[in-house]
Amino acid sequence: MIIESKIDGVVARTCHPLGCKQAVLDQIAFVEGAPQITGGPKKVLILGASSGYGLASRISLAFGGCAADTIGVSFERGPSDKGIGTAGWYNNVFFREEAERKGLIAKNFVGDAFSPQMRADVIDFIRTEFGGTVDMVIYSLATGVRPDPETGERMRSTIKPLGEPVSGTTINLEHDRLDEMTLPPATEQEVQDTVRVMGGEDWRDWISELADAGVLAKGCATLAYSYVGPEFTYEIYHDGTLGHAKAHLHATADQITEMLKPVGGQAHVAVCKALVTKASVFIPTFSPYITVLFRVMKEKGLHEGCIEQMQRMFVEKIYGPEDYIVDEENLLRLDDWELRADVQAEAKELLSQITPENFAEIGDYAGYKQEFLALNGFGLENVDYTQEVDPEALKGLQP
Ligand code: NAI
Repeated sequence: MIIESKIDGVVARTCHPLGCKQAVLDQIAFVEGAPQITGGPKKVLILGASSGYGLASRISLAFGGCAADTIGVSFERGPSDKGIGTAGWYNNVFFREEAERKGLIAKNFVGDAFSPQMRADVIDFIRTEFGGTVDMVIYSLATGVRPDPETGERMRSTIKPLGEPVSGTTINLEHDRLDEMTLPPATEQEVQDTVRVMGGEDWRDWISELADAGVLAKGCATLAYSYVGPEFTYEIYHDGTLGHAKAHLHATADQITEMLKPVGGQAHVAVCKALVTKASVFIPTFSPYITVLFRVMKEKGLHEGCIEQMQRMFVEKIYGPEDYIVDEENLLRLDDWELRADVQAEAKELLSQITPENFAEIGDYAGYKQEFLALNGFGLENVDYTQEVDPEALKGLQP
């Protein structure tokens, strides 16, 4: 069969396995040709390893200098009679193949990272087949739902402002259109639930269980990812439900560092740049900003995707001549180029010119859409999309 891209609003309904493979290979090629990480970790657990920042971290640590063995946990779907499966499934498959070709361990656990069984399985694997300990844990889960660990009740995260409604525009990728939208303010319950889903609680629980199981190596480091953004986006992000969750995540890093004292470890949050990932396209009013940001950063030679951000983080901000270059709030700032005054001034100026008629020309909409398509293996160079894909053969590919 021939696989074509299908988008509903901002959700991709299909993926191209060969394109996913190419995207993994392209990221590997990038880190292999980039300045290398020196002195990084050797045994890494990545929670949320199949796409976006988690996958980029995994590729960077395996192929960008420290040749780390990795365990990746993700929630993905394989091919079945109902469909082709998700891009992350194939990213897992092809990452493992390439890592094993290099002689590295690359174990994938596909299932719910919130479940006690998943934690037990991962711990068991570390003990029996991974040398007994990990020296880095990356927490890169992005999800809309988490079961309450006590009651099992499903909590949902929302993306809403606090106090007042916020109106703005957002890009509809299906129709290449700029739509007006108004977001009502969050209820107190929605704020609390978003904090519990996307804040630091589950990160802390994972580290606590790994520590209790004795599978954290001496000096073990842990990282989670966050976003801050420019001030004019504060009402929707930083001061909204997600921003509250991120504030909780930032505070949790200090608690985890305390918890890691017995093994001499430390926890950090890295604040990353706004990018197109399958999670970020849901943030209303954000997409026009990302298109102008892309244009300005590309014109200035500052544009980065997940893989460029992660390689720069490990090479320059964590394992550079100085370890852990952080700001006064102990955050690693990978959004330093995004927030540069000249970048922001130009992005804001362009944003003020955007209308539903001209948004594709004012911002880099072509680049934005290309990155969205690439997340699901479409629009990549060196892939023959007219080639027949055998659905039965896909079922033989295991993560
Ligand atoms: P993504 O959607 O590309 O990846 C999320 C990962 O979590 C996937 O591997 C998915 O399989 C996994 N996952 C979700 N629910 C799971 C579950 N129940 N069990 C196991 N695995 C599960 O997300 P992205 O954008 O890379 O986000 C990762 C982190 O980076 C988040 O904390 C996000 O807030 C942060 N970030 C993202 C930015 C962006 O622009 N996309 C900017 C700055 C930070």
